[in-house]
This record gives sequence, structure tokens and C-alpha cells, in this order.
Amino acid sequence: MYTCCPAGESANFHRSRAISAFITREITPQTGHVIELGPGTGVFTTKMIERGVRPQHLTLVEYSQEFVERLKGRFPGARVLSMDAARLQDLKFPPETSVGAVVSGLPLLTMPVGKVMEILEGPFRHLRPGGAFYQFTYMSKCPVPQSVLDHLDLNATQVDRTFRNLPPAAVAVCAQSGLKPITIESGPSNGSTRVATKPASRIQAWQSPPV
Ligand SMILES: C[S@@+](CC[C@H](N)C(=O)[O-])C[C@H]1O[C@@H](n2cnc3c(N)ncnc32)[C@H](O)[C@@H]1O
Repeated sequence: MYTCCPAGESANFHRSRAISAFITREITPQTGHVIELGPGTGVFTTKMIERGVRPQHLTLVEYSQEFVERLKGRFPGARVLSMDAARLQDLKFPPETSVGAVVSGLPLLTMPVGKVMEILEGPFRHLRPGGAFYQFTYMSKCPVPQSVLDHLDLNATQVDRTFRNLPPAAVAVCAQSGLKPITIESGPSNGSTRVATKPASRIQAWQSPPV
């Protein structure tokens, strides 16, 4: 029998929704401008717009030309750039732009350390003091190597960890050491997205669970 929503696709859809709610949960219109790295089809982008971020306050950095065309069609108000996220230091913003967050769906753990260094270094030239870099991961270890954090004088905290997704997912928040992260208004976790969260939204430092 034909079904318009096969079980696998439905599960993927719900998982994508849960992950997008999870990684963007600290993003609000007060965050200011947001740079998204590796938006793909725009799952996180959609969630940020649902959270009240204006498309004009989004810069989407995507490597794949195919995704770039789709993103331009889906989010006509956003700035969509076809480029390597490792070249972000070359990017220009109008002087009044206050970049409050970078949201990344890039597969950092599959990349060489030098590339991860470039990907992290660029955004921190644009982020305002207290701005943060949000990186999604399925792995238990921090997705940003300690050598990169040390070199750029950043610290990584773990927002939370979902347990209803298989495999479990986590978000690392990288910020400049010694700077208090931007004040965030975060609502209660939304049962409809099936994101299981711990009550404390920030753990003080990235801690991998015991194996
Ligand atoms: C795992 S997908 C995530 C897509 C999206 N966030 C989601 O959850 O559906 C990673 C995306 O990053 C893009 N990407 C990979 N390396 C990149 C790079 N160096 N610069 C920009 N985009 C990159 C890929 O083309 C892909 O769209």
C-alpha cells in the first residue's frame, strides 16, 4: 500500500525537528545576527525563523551549490553564500551588524585539525563579545579539539544531551574564555519535539560520559 510518509522518513523528519529545536534553543530575536555553517536543506534555519529570527539577520554559509540554490529559494530574505566555511575570515558585514551566534551543522569530527582551526577562527572575528559558536554532534567527545580551543583561547560547554534520539546528540557551545555568554531567554523544553533535556541548561565544561 502506498503511504505518503513511510516510517523511516517520518522518523528522520521527527529526529531532524528534535535536533533543530535542540541546537537552536538558545537563539532568539535578541541574539542579533546569526551565521549558520553548513545549513544543507535549511532544517536549523527554519527553526531559527520559527523562533523569531528575521531572515535578514541570517547569513547561511554552504559549500554545496545544489543546497545553495535551494536555500535561496526557501529563504529569499537571508544572505546565502556559496563558500567554504573555513574562509569566513574574509567575510564582510556592515559595521552596525552585531553577530551574536554561529550555528554549525558541519561534520567537524571528520575534518583535519587545521581545517577545524580555520572554521572556528573566522567566526570569532565577527562574533560580538559574549557571542557563541554552537556545534552539533552525535559523538560523546567534544567536537572541537582541545588544541583548537587552547589556541583560540576558547572554552567549550555542553548545552545538553538528548537521549530520545538514537544515537544521542549533544551541542557544544564555544565562547571566548573569561567572557560571560550572551543572556539567553530559553523556554521550557517542548514536549512535542521530543527533546529530552536535563534541567541545567549549561554544564560548566565539556565532559564526555564514561565509556
Ligand atoms: C551534515 S549536513 C547538515 C545539514 C543541516 N544542518 C541538517 O541538519 O540538515 C552538513 C552540511 O555542511 C555542508 N558543508 C560541509 N563542509 C562544508 C564547508 N567546509 N563549508 C560549508 N559547508 C560545508 C554540506 O554541504 C552539508 O550541507
